[in-house]
Amino acid sequence: MVASFDAQLACMITLVLGLQFGDEGKGKIVDYLSESSDAVIKFNGGSNAGHTVVTDEGKFKFHLVPSGALRAGEVILGNGMTIDPFLLDQEMNNLSKFKEKINVKISKSAHVVTPMHRYLDQAEETARGSLSIGTTAQGIGPTYEDKYARTGIRIADLSNRGLLEEKIELIYRMKRSLLENSEYASEQNRRAMAEKLYEIGLKLKHLTCDTEIYLNDLANKGKNLLFEGSHGSMLDVDFGTYPFVTSSNTTSGAVSTGSGLSLRRVDRIVGVVKSYMSRVGFGPFPTELPAAEGDRLRTIGNEYGTTTGRPRRVGWLDLVLLKYTIMINDVDSIALTRVDTLGKLERIKIGYEYVLDGKTLDSLPKSNEDLARVSVKYRDFKSWGDLGDDRIREIIGKGFDNLPAELKEYIDFIEQKLGKDVDIISLGEKRSMTLFRKQ
Ligand code: IMP
Repeated sequence: MVASFDAQLACMITLVLGLQFGDEGKGKIVDYLSESSDAVIKFNGGSNAGHTVVTDEGKFKFHLVPSGALRAGEVILGNGMTIDPFLLDQEMNNLSKFKEKINVKISKSAHVVTPMHRYLDQAEETARGSLSIGTTAQGIGPTYEDKYARTGIRIADLSNRGLLEEKIELIYRMKRSLLENSEYASEQNRRAMAEKLYEIGLKLKHLTCDTEIYLNDLANKGKNLLFEGSHGSMLDVDFGTYPFVTSSNTTSGAVSTGSGLSLRRVDRIVGVVKSYMSRVGFGPFPTELPAAEGDRLRTIGNEYGTTTGRPRRVGWLDLVLLKYTIMINDVDSIALTRVDTLGKLERIKIGYEYVLDGKTLDSLPKSNEDLARVSVKYRDFKSWGDLGDDRIREIIGKGFDNLPAELKEYIDFIEQKLGKDVDIISLGEKRSMTLFRKQ
């Protein structure tokens, strides 16, 4: 069933990003593209992200380790990441059961998520009250806060016991009001946490380096590099639905700042689009489906958070939002995922225009209040039906130019409205259920 992977992406630097609110299926696409990659690189986020990859060997869930780790020669965790070292150690252990040699490099400048940051994430959510975000509670926000407050703990600091203790004390002083009722109010407990961090730091030390130098070297040698973006573009701290966003930049510019390799070196940007929308946490969602219809799609698509298990809000594909994220990222082509899931619905819609106060909008409104008030114009599509394994095999065998008529109509509409080609279609969770358009 394997659609032969076209060599056109070999010896290229490719960036894969999500164009919606996360959970677009980037993991599957990165795994698929990583077949010919020398290295897979992450440059933003932390364990708030979650990716699932299904191969013949089983189902793999990743948070910190990139999805491409199963196949790519090397794995690089860039400086823009926030890393829980205990979790990373655990994920590498799990991976080593399936892959003998995992070549991981961790940036010395990436920031460390400590158990105290995890506590702070929940304490901050409580303090926000009605303005809470619905975070994944992984400590990511507080870790980035410390980074930008210049009080953060970097990976390199883990092996300097004195500095590590000093920094933990500094963070405690700065955030005492949120921590005074926690276990971290005790100096003894803070020291015990420092001790554990120091130990894990020593264990991981041999994997750390200045990844920006290493990465530029790989690029200069003409290696095939694959960058895996975390989260979705609408969760970007600058361009998303602020404040209902994550704490990092999730759009293409973050490659430069989060890895040290200039975005100018990237040859190709692939935007991953799920054929419907989903969102975890709060914030506006113009094409969200009402309860009953949403329940159906959520169940069919098993739309529950990889990290938190929370039910995801679901809705129809939104082309106005995609036009915006394609612009911000300068996307070259689209990978369309979960096409098989959508086909299980009898009727399918795509949102293609927003109207606000009787006026058609030219672009996505940037105020959350306006975004929550828009009415959406939809086009209806005939369903391509519930594709079983045999039908998927047949579709992949026939190739991109012979798609079922209903699916072709759906894809043609997306391509025409967005002005971008859909180059990859994912028709099922298995790696082999992927169709690639050869040019
Ligand atoms: P945080 O990143 O844990 O601070 O959460 C901020 C917001 O981003 C919340 O609404 C989360 O549900 C959402 N979020 C963060 N990472 C992901 C992701 O990988 N997929 C989907 N939503 C995410």
